[in-house]
Amino acid sequence: MVAEAGIQATAPVYRPGLEGVPATQSAVCDIDGQQGILSYRGYRVEDLAAQSTFLETTYLLIWGELPDAEQLAAFEQEVQMHRRVSFRIRDMMKSFPSQGHPMDALQASAASLGLFYSRRALDNPEYIYGAVVRLIAKIPTMVAAFQLIRKGQDPIQPRDDLAYASNFLYMLTEQEPDPLAARIFDACLILHAEHSLNASTFSARVTASTLTDPYAVVASAVGTLAGPLHGGANEDVLEMLEEIGSEDQVEPWLDRAIAEKRKIMGFGHREYKVKDPRAVILQKLAEQLFDSFGHDPLYDLARKLEAAAAERLGPKGIYPNVDFYSGLVYRKLGIPEDLFTPIFAIARTAGWLAHWKEQLGANRIFRPTQIYTGYPSRELTPIEDR
Ligand code: ACO
Repeated sequence: MVAEAGIQATAPVYRPGLEGVPATQSAVCDIDGQQGILSYRGYRVEDLAAQSTFLETTYLLIWGELPDAEQLAAFEQEVQMHRRVSFRIRDMMKSFPSQGHPMDALQASAASLGLFYSRRALDNPEYIYGAVVRLIAKIPTMVAAFQLIRKGQDPIQPRDDLAYASNFLYMLTEQEPDPLAARIFDACLILHAEHSLNASTFSARVTASTLTDPYAVVASAVGTLAGPLHGGANEDVLEMLEEIGSEDQVEPWLDRAIAEKRKIMGFGHREYKVKDPRAVILQKLAEQLFDSFGHDPLYDLARKLEAAAAERLGPKGIYPNVDFYSGLVYRKLGIPEDLFTPIFAIARTAGWLAHWKEQLGANRIFRPTQIYTGYPSRELTPIEDR
């Protein structure tokens, strides 16, 4: 019929990793990978990192406009009021194995919120607001709680007089952080808050498209973020720098790694063919931290590796991504390496929820097709004849 109508029937083209295939329409975030520009709702990430706060950026991402002073104060207050998690969730976390990865603990804890807040009213703006507030408020508390629980301690309660970033660092380290450290950490959260249709956000949108609850949406995204090709890379960057050991080993190590076709962690990005703009900002933040709280020799090694990699991998469009310098910032803030990805999840919850809300606004369940490569129809041989 199609051929009769004069239209050429073309076989579907398979693109591994869906590279270049639009899987949704979105107004949340834009990336210009050739020029290294990232913007949330039209605002450059550099401006947000310098002038906004994570909660204000979260509001912008989810509701599409910057809040006015009253809206922001109300949102901050709601988040502050919902930071505590039920003792039942804390007790559940106490039964997790202490050697388990904090991302697995976070995924299970995020999913468990659905048991407590099961009422689902996806077409009710108040329900959406309440779910956003709960997730933004409780995810950091759960990350900090697991950190203390696995050390054999009781989690400490959030402090109402501390802002979002300061309170998280306080719950994690049991010490009120220096204001500069808290401000830099807040900027890191802004930089990680959203990045269009990456693997975890796609996962969030697929889950959202089934009209399940937002806790399941975030839990599925956390599981996707955990992998080493996505959020898990910043842990590997520090391991790699430690493995290189000294500045004179950078070039021989890199040549060996390239010859062995190893991926250099913290380098390369599907979208960016220049240095990731977030890496540029994170590098500046790292320098600010070192100026105030002491230098880290791994930073010199990282810069040397960046320069050596630019010569060898730059022509292929492979430059530092967001993970390359974020680990050095978190290390200076005294954060354990296996919490780097959970911290990424705290920030990215804002982006996931923006996509959840957008998906609900024009929903169609995701159901792509496939190209079957298996056997043709076969006769089933009874087990005694096999
Ligand atoms: N080191 C060395 N070579 C690389 C790297 C790297 N980090 N990244 C890509 N390449 C090379 C590949 O070997 C390949 O070369 P070839 O064409 O000669 O075979 C080419 O560049 C294309 O690589 P792909 O893996 O196909 O690129 P893709 O777009 O699929 O991958 C990814 C992007 C997964 C981020 C990749 O660059 C990578 O594995 N980087 C290291 C892990 C990392 O830092 N992940 C964090 C990403 S940022 C984030 O998720 C927050």
